[in-house]
Amino acid sequence: MSPSTRIANLYGREILDSRGNPTLAVTLVLESGAEASAAVPSGASTGANEAVELRDGDPARYGGKGVLQAIGRVEGPIASALQGHDVCDQAALDRAMIALDGTPNKARLGANAILGVSMAAARAASIVEGVPLYQQLGGEGACLLPMPSMNVLNGGKHADSGLDFQEFMIVPVGAPSFAEALRYGAETYAAIRSILHKRGLKTAVGDEGGFAPALENNEEACELIVAGVEAAGYRPGQDIAIALDPAASSFGRGGVYDLARAGQARLDRTAMLALYGRWIDAYPIVSIEDGFAEDDWQGFVEQTTAQGQRIQVMGDDITVTNPHFIQEAIDRKAMNAVLIKLNQIGTVTETVDAVNLCHKAGWGTMVSHRSGETNDDFIADFAVAVGAGQMKSGAPCRGERLAKYNRLLEIERMLGKRAFFTNPFTNPFAKA
Ligand code: PGA
Ligand code: ZN
Repeated sequence: MSPSTRIANLYGREILDSRGNPTLAVTLVLESGAEASAAVPSGASTGANEAVELRDGDPARYGGKGVLQAIGRVEGPIASALQGHDVCDQAALDRAMIALDGTPNKARLGANAILGVSMAAARAASIVEGVPLYQQLGGEGACLLPMPSMNVLNGGKHADSGLDFQEFMIVPVGAPSFAEALRYGAETYAAIRSILHKRGLKTAVGDEGGFAPALENNEEACELIVAGVEAAGYRPGQDIAIALDPAASSFGRGGVYDLARAGQARLDRTAMLALYGRWIDAYPIVSIEDGFAEDDWQGFVEQTTAQGQRIQVMGDDITVTNPHFIQEAIDRKAMNAVLIKLNQIGTVTETVDAVNLCHKAGWGTMVSHRSGETNDDFIADFAVAVGAGQMKSGAPCRGERLAKYNRLLEIERMLGKRAFFTNPFTNPFAKA
């Protein structure tokens, strides 16, 4: 090991995320003096089994949301344990932090502290090796750009739009490249803004950059998207499809779903499944994430059986990027794709393991931002590195969302002729 790849020190900083809440940035310094930083995101609609985000709980600072303790973990026990370690051996570093933590959910050191170090290490390694981050993590073969799902209408815990469903996304399935996909998305987003404006509805945006108008019900959101796609000159379904993240854990429990926010009824599991069935018939939907709550495995299994040939049935809160729960989902045939969030599990290595487990099962993966984000664009490189095939980073609006999309434009340029972009929904999710 050359001395220039050895870790000298770690520093933490309390910064603000896109909601104005504190989060953690970590700087890793090598013995050579070279350094790299990373910032950790934070969710609002979190799964109960996510790795623990360490917050101070001191009501005198940021309503208890400060992260000074997490910084203490980075600069104290983690720095002591990692000093002198080879930054290029990501797996060994992550294993050392997991062992030092010693809990199943990273409660002692905090997943925010551990992930900040893990991401900063990957970045430092890419600097040492002189290769872009996607290549450092994914090797020479990493050349698949992800299909973006852009969240153009925000509801649930991300906006006070009155929509029960959290995310209504557009997926430019007919685009020939990532750059064109982003253009299709931005033009459709602009068309939706014009329609809202003409109808006298608000064009203020929610946490993920999507509009948050006071619509009558969830269905109107799908109709508005189809109108926006057409107004932008695209064909619904062929050029641009729809993906949903109802985030049903926020309005469902014990197999009962309360759609009261948009003036609809309480639905049981069977009625919920029937509602999705009607929507799949009526709208060009290719993917539904968390259509059922995290405590409703049966809902996921029934949806996969009934609709899994027509759409992507994806888990988020129920799988929490944790190989243990993903394996359970595989055993139960509970879905056919998994959402991937680094901070749900807490290290780069375990996130790569989660993706590989899904791909081995023939399942799709979508790398995801969190609703509380920073300008860190790590997930763009990560999505290319693991060949995820899909990524969501909100609307084509708000700097912290665009940081990731704009980084993908840069990666596509760097890859040049080797860049590969494809519609992940052609098979087996072919739409008539
Ligand atoms: P979160 O939302 O970051 O607030 O959890 C994202 C999602 O549910 O996919
Ligand atoms: Zn989700």
